[in-house]
Amino acid sequence: MSGRGAIQFLRVTKRFAGGQVALDEVSFVVEAGEFVFLTGDSGAGKTTLLSLIYRAALPTSGSVLVNGRNVGSLPPKKVPYLRRSIGVVFQDSRLIRRKTVFENVGYLPRILGLSAARQRELAMNALAQVGLEARAGAFPAQLSGGEQQRVAIARALANDPPIILADEPTGNLDPELSRQIFKLFVEARQRGTTVLVATHDPNAIRSLPARVLRLKAGQLTEDSARRDPASAIEGGVRS
Ligand SMILES: Nc1ncnc2c1ncn2[C@@H]1O[C@H](COP(=O)(O)OP(=O)(O)OP(=O)(O)O)[C@@H](O)[C@H]1O
Ligand SMILES: [Mg+2]
Repeated sequence: MSGRGAIQFLRVTKRFAGGQVALDEVSFVVEAGEFVFLTGDSGAGKTTLLSLIYRAALPTSGSVLVNGRNVGSLPPKKVPYLRRSIGVVFQDSRLIRRKTVFENVGYLPRILGLSAARQRELAMNALAQVGLEARAGAFPAQLSGGEQQRVAIARALANDPPIILADEPTGNLDPELSRQIFKLFVEARQRGTTVLVATHDPNAIRSLPARVLRLKAGQLTEDSARRDPASAIEGGVRS
């Protein structure tokens, strides 16, 4: 279970400094190349769970393994390599305000040291996938909330990472755009990418037949069977 893109939680508890228990002994395995919804009410622990995968936070107890490696005990100098292998769509998009859309999306290809032509190709291709290539020169403040969200999605997809974590990626989007974004995630999964999408939107979850992990007040209360979301995309997504 240590394939590229596999994620494993072993009795993971996350307690914040104020005593708040955001995750309580959570265990699950996501195989490389799975598509999984993470759901639960506001405050259930979804964002916290994602943050442990790319080591924005450390578990209080238990272990988080990515590709079979314990991310909590990674030496600090290895953390950037972990993060480069994970495309994250943040709940609050987190675009760099002083950089253009193109620069935001091309950031990772640039730090990966790719040629300028290749950086441009990857960034423009990712922007085209979310329908925003015409806005490449705009700054985030010049975009609507939904457009900013799509730029954040393009940034996560740009270098085709083995893992994509998306936190309420369609929260600001209308149903048609949401459908298109989920299609991009399913296509990534068909290329072998592990995709974990946090959402409390039951419509999004109903729209695709995928495995569902449900958190309730920090506890994993449901883990539905694995299913293949590609069949729904090919046959037209239910709405
Ligand atoms: N830095 C922090 N310090 C203290 N408590 C925190 C911190 N971050 C999150 N929490 C608490 O942990 C719990 C889980 O928060 P989390 O953000 O993971 O929920 P969520 O499921 O993502 O919610 P939402 O659907 O509203 O985004 C909440 O009770 C929250 O108040
Ligand atoms: Mg959240």
